[in-house]
Amino acid sequence: MTNWLELIGRRQSIRQYEKDVSPLSLSEVGELLPQAETLNNSPLAMHLVSAEKIHPLFKGFLGRFARVMSPWYIVPVTINNPMAWLNLGFALEKTILEMTGMDLGTCWLGGYYDREKLASSLGLKQGSSIPAIVAWGHPSKQTWNKIMKKAGRLNARKKVEDIVHGPMPDYAHKGHLRPLLEAVRWAPSAVNRQPWRLEISPEAVHFYSVSKKAALAGSLVPIDMGIALCHFSLGCRQLNVPGRLERLKKKTPRGLHYWYSYVFASEELK
Ligand SMILES: Cc1cc2nc3c(=O)[nH]c(=O)nc-3n(C[C@H](O)[C@H](O)[C@H](O)COP(=O)(O)O)c2cc1C
Repeated sequence: MTNWLELIGRRQSIRQYEKDVSPLSLSEVGELLPQAETLNNSPLAMHLVSAEKIHPLFKGFLGRFARVMSPWYIVPVTINNPMAWLNLGFALEKTILEMTGMDLGTCWLGGYYDREKLASSLGLKQGSSIPAIVAWGHPSKQTWNKIMKKAGRLNARKKVEDIVHGPMPDYAHKGHLRPLLEAVRWAPSAVNRQPWRLEISPEAVHFYSVSKKAALAGSLVPIDMGIALCHFSLGCRQLNVPGRLERLKKKTPRGLHYWYSYVFASEELK
């Protein structure tokens, strides 16, 4: 069985790549994409697109200097809707973890490329949305990755206590809950903002984001939330914590925005 928690601990954003990808890796990733597990029925298609098509679309000052150049990219196509972006984050992050298990490097990229030109170069119809892409390849042996991280503190994380909304149950430090909270804590998020806040009850863990603006399309928070849901549910799968992901009719606490819940099948989490 896949050790999802180990893959979650091992994954990190890679920003420097070897020039080429082996034909085997290319075909393995090509096979992974159609098998992606989804959260809801939003349209989602994943394309493999080469550097030659993507690199001319990097734009602006940051696009030129902070861009992540890899030999290949995963380009997920969906519609412009927060639930569709949540689904995209959920589905693509599992693929990323599978790629981590194949010793491939990955990095989510949320901006600095011309979304419209990319959509038209793929011949997509109006209304399609490409909110983020994923750079991938064989990690380069250079030290640039480490330097970038140290400089930007791009891999620092909030404490578990800081991503839990409301009281931390006394059983949170033992049993299965702790590794599940760690799995969320180490999720990647745009500009490492870690917007997830989790409310824990014996019946369910409810996922919120800090910002109300999150509901608006254009913010990458829905993708961050989908990624967190992916990490939590894969952790539950590995630790045999039965339950289901469900969007409940929740009253959202002030300052938060509700997204989804993991509803436990039993109270055995304690
Ligand atoms: C939706 C999304 C968009 C991102 N966009 C960028 C980006 O444009 N450029 C970049 O270098 N990293 C980008 N990242 C990577 C984050 O900076 C990174 O995940 C975070 O700093 C945590 O570091 P780690 O992935 O090494 O654990 C993005 C991550 C996510 C989830």
